[in-house]
Amino acid sequence: GLTRHYKFDIRLKNVTRLCKTKTIVTVNGKFPGPRVVAREGDRLVVKVVNHVSNNVSFHWHGIRQFRSGWADGPAYITQCPIQSGQSYVYNFTITGQRGTLWWHAHISWMRATLYGPLIIYPQHNASYPFDKPHKEVSIIFGEWWNANTEAVINQSHVTGAGPNVSDSYTINGLPGPLYNCSAKDTFKRKVRPGKTYMLRIINAALNDNLFFRIANHTMTVVEADAVYVKPFETDTILITPGQTTNVLLKTHHNPQQTTFVMVARPYFTGQGTFDNSTIAGILMYDHNLPGTTSSSSNTSIKYLPIPTLPPINSTSFVANFTKKFHSLANAKFPANVPQNVDKHFFFTVGLGSNPCPKNQTCQGPNNSSKFAASVNNVSMILPTTALLQSYFFRKSNGVYTSDFPSVPLVPFNYTGTPPNNTNISNGTKVVVLPYNTSVELVMQDTSVLGSESHPLHLHGYNFYVVGQGSGNFDPKKDPANYNLVDPVERNTIGVPSGGWVAIRFLANNPGVWFMHCHFEVHLSWGLRMACINVEESS
Ligand code: C2O
Repeated sequence: GLTRHYKFDIRLKNVTRLCKTKTIVTVNGKFPGPRVVAREGDRLVVKVVNHVSNNVSFHWHGIRQFRSGWADGPAYITQCPIQSGQSYVYNFTITGQRGTLWWHAHISWMRATLYGPLIIYPQHNASYPFDKPHKEVSIIFGEWWNANTEAVINQSHVTGAGPNVSDSYTINGLPGPLYNCSAKDTFKRKVRPGKTYMLRIINAALNDNLFFRIANHTMTVVEADAVYVKPFETDTILITPGQTTNVLLKTHHNPQQTTFVMVARPYFTGQGTFDNSTIAGILMYDHNLPGTTSSSSNTSIKYLPIPTLPPINSTSFVANFTKKFHSLANAKFPANVPQNVDKHFFFTVGLGSNPCPKNQTCQGPNNSSKFAASVNNVSMILPTTALLQSYFFRKSNGVYTSDFPSVPLVPFNYTGTPPNNTNISNGTKVVVLPYNTSVELVMQDTSVLGSESHPLHLHGYNFYVVGQGSGNFDPKKDPANYNLVDPVERNTIGVPSGGWVAIRFLANNPGVWFMHCHFEVHLSWGLRMACINVEESS
């Protein structure tokens, strides 16, 4: 492969959205950030130079990082933050992966403005397992705050309350015509009739799962998290923060209109406030071309039908949609999913609370505590030395302990209504996995504020999603229904709201790997843990 060099200069930039101008942190003055493009087998060398006062670090979301754990990026997990005036070089080879991924800042809420597509083309002699699309289009969803996002999360840490929600969603940084004074800030894409486009869809929103639909068009899903899937057709997709989905869009030969609205808005089942606004963009047939009628070139959204999305809390849509994903494997050529499990884990994931510190007033749950979130009742405190550094130099003392519980500290039972799972302790605990351990992990949603679907992301691996269900996971019955033939392989999966998901993976990637909810608010509250895959098999 080639070596491709990129330079990320972290600079401030004034950006106007929703009629307000604010100074944001950008990569090279761009918002969203630049596309990083490579080919399978290439080496990427990205030099980051930090010219702003905030600390930064960058994660290449979904890249396996074989033997390059120092390039993974989460602050205090694999590296110390890149401070003002400093630089850092991310250097890694893309092995055995092709498709749509993305990159983002991985410290505090800096990824609100520091994110962009990471596109890996197949090797020169390889092709897509479907007809080559006419054109490829990146669609990257984000969230926009009028306020400074660092202030928003800091405020939440101080008061213990939930942070303010975003003021709009964005497509490629643009809110679109349904928001105040944003008609000129609308994502518009010209297409030709009778062609196939590949949309590379990325959810970079901070805190929301999103439904997405294009009026009068269906989409064929062909890839998830940079792994091909058995193609299936749908009019609506659901995408969690962290996930990427490639779809094929076949344009009409003789469209009735020349402009069509695309929309996205959240899927949300919890309680409390969230941004329930809708973002819109426009698909525009090139009406100067033969095959399109030239009548309705009016792109004002007032005159266009807005496609209907599933209800905000449509858990049934999401459950059905999630089950449509299957890998290209089949009974004759089954997926490489571990058939025998060396190590079983059961993790509860969800919100809870911490007591309010003395001399402080808190506005969290019951107005007297602080929001917290945990895995197995452990809310992870980030260390002040990066875990990888302490592990590498054998100086774990005072940094982390290796006693992460493999089952919840507080027994869990889901009996109809979501139980209060407020019992949270704080710590920096890791799971140690010997090289080549085959792992099964069942993640069970818990909650204090209604059940919620948590998008869980694992660094350093892809995992197979072998099962999912609602209510309590039943270790006696549920494994019998696992799909061990063609489960989808991905790096981020929504733990079903009020339910569970089972994943399997082979721990064949030495290093220190973060796992966390990809809702930035839950990550900040401690819904995160780390595993260390050690070199020695024991
Ligand atoms: Cu996309 Cu740890 O993150």
